[in-house]
Amino acid sequence: MDIRRFFSGRRVKRWQFVQLFATCFILSVMMFWGPVNYDVVNHMKSYSYRYLINSYDFVNNSLSLKHGLNGTPRYPYLINHEDRCQEQDVLLLLFVKTAPENYHRRLAIRNTWGNEKYIHALFNANIKTLFALGIPTQPQMREELQQKLIWEDQIYQDIIQQDFEDTFYNLTVKLLLQFNWANSYCPQAKFFMTADDDIFIHMPNLIEYLQSLEQIGVQDFWIGHVHRGAPPVRNKESKYYVSYEMYQWPAYPDYTAGAAYLFSNDVTAKVYEASQTLNSSLYIDDVFMGLCANKMGVVPQDHVFFSGEGKTPYHPCIYEKMMTSHGHDQDMRGLWKAATDPKVKTLSKGFFSQIYCKLIKIIILCRPKLVKTYSCRGAFL
Ligand SMILES: *[C@@H]1O[C@H](CO)[C@@H](O)[C@H](O)[C@H]1NC(C)=O
Ligand SMILES: *[C@@H]1O[C@H](CO)[C@@H](O)[C@H](O)[C@H]1NC(C)=O
Ligand SMILES: *[C@@H]1O[C@H](CO)[C@@H](O)[C@H](O)[C@H]1NC(C)=O
Repeated sequence: MDIRRFFSGRRVKRWQFVQLFATCFILSVMMFWGPVNYDVVNHMKSYSYRYLINSYDFVNNSLSLKHGLNGTPRYPYLINHEDRCQEQDVLLLLFVKTAPENYHRRLAIRNTWGNEKYIHALFNANIKTLFALGIPTQPQMREELQQKLIWEDQIYQDIIQQDFEDTFYNLTVKLLLQFNWANSYCPQAKFFMTADDDIFIHMPNLIEYLQSLEQIGVQDFWIGHVHRGAPPVRNKESKYYVSYEMYQWPAYPDYTAGAAYLFSNDVTAKVYEASQTLNSSLYIDDVFMGLCANKMGVVPQDHVFFSGEGKTPYHPCIYEKMMTSHGHDQDMRGLWKAATDPKVKTLSKGFFSQIYCKLIKIIILCRPKLVKTYSCRGAFL
């Protein structure tokens, strides 16, 4: 083919026309047919709302409880440790959201990143790792499982349980448990964190980060994997379905993925206060946290190495900076060993190993991939 002819004026115009036509065609297919259309429209609406209007005053007006009406039911504690956080100097209160039957996950966490003694020995920092849960859901199993929980707690003294059914739709209740507990028994902790029980936290990295933040004396600090302009799911089949009655607007305020996020002491007090005045029927707990923070004017910050739904690529060059990773069950101990190996730190020292790691990170994080992991930005930090 004659290249010069191809790039001549008329050809380019025709080519552009074809491109434009194809784009319009694809867009119209997406708009008018198929199940895709609904999702796309939903996202277009929510992004327009987020980036053009971005006002959530309605949170205060519409979701605030009328004075005197008590909308947040209080469930009594069944297992509690009121004096578990008595020291003045607590760096981090870390709640792990778990379910009664997840004994093995709790054990793995206690033996790895949740180990308070390990952190104290290494960093001279006090952390408190507690497990937040409700009561077993199946009535036939309830008594047996509850008895096992009591035994487990007698050994480890780290379970905080309230008398609500531990279901997906009670996740906001579980969040309120954590806010209430933090406010009543551990308000002095410098930082508060909440995480799922299938999360891996690179605790040494996190503690170093928190200690540096503490030195600056951060305030209004809330960090995690931020979702911006997320639309409520209106598909009734979905687990995350939210009715218009519950939330009528096209977008949620920015919030951090519930898998793991973190905030400073002053935010703990603020979101607790907001949680007492907002209608908590919205059962998606991280969104509810977003509503509470929004009401108090607190804005989330994104951290590349807080993974949200994503999982860490298994590589020492990544471990050097990682904070959290999602979807770990069987491999918790193996990953802990690999990620906290002293060899990881030496990789960041030498000139050549730094270049090697930079390349590896670009290759791992920036190539197109099917599994969710840290974003490409992470390769350049
Ligand atoms: C929210 O509403 C209450 C009364 O309904 C008002 O006192 C308060 O100042 C409002 N807060 C914000 C941030 O608008
Ligand atoms: C939440 O817990 C309460 C108290 O146990 C229970 O009555 C309710 O059915 C639970 N809600 C859901 C949606 O599971
Ligand atoms: C909270 O909102 C729900 C709708 O999602 C409503 O049915 C309920 O009555 C509200 N609760 C209070 C106490 O206002």
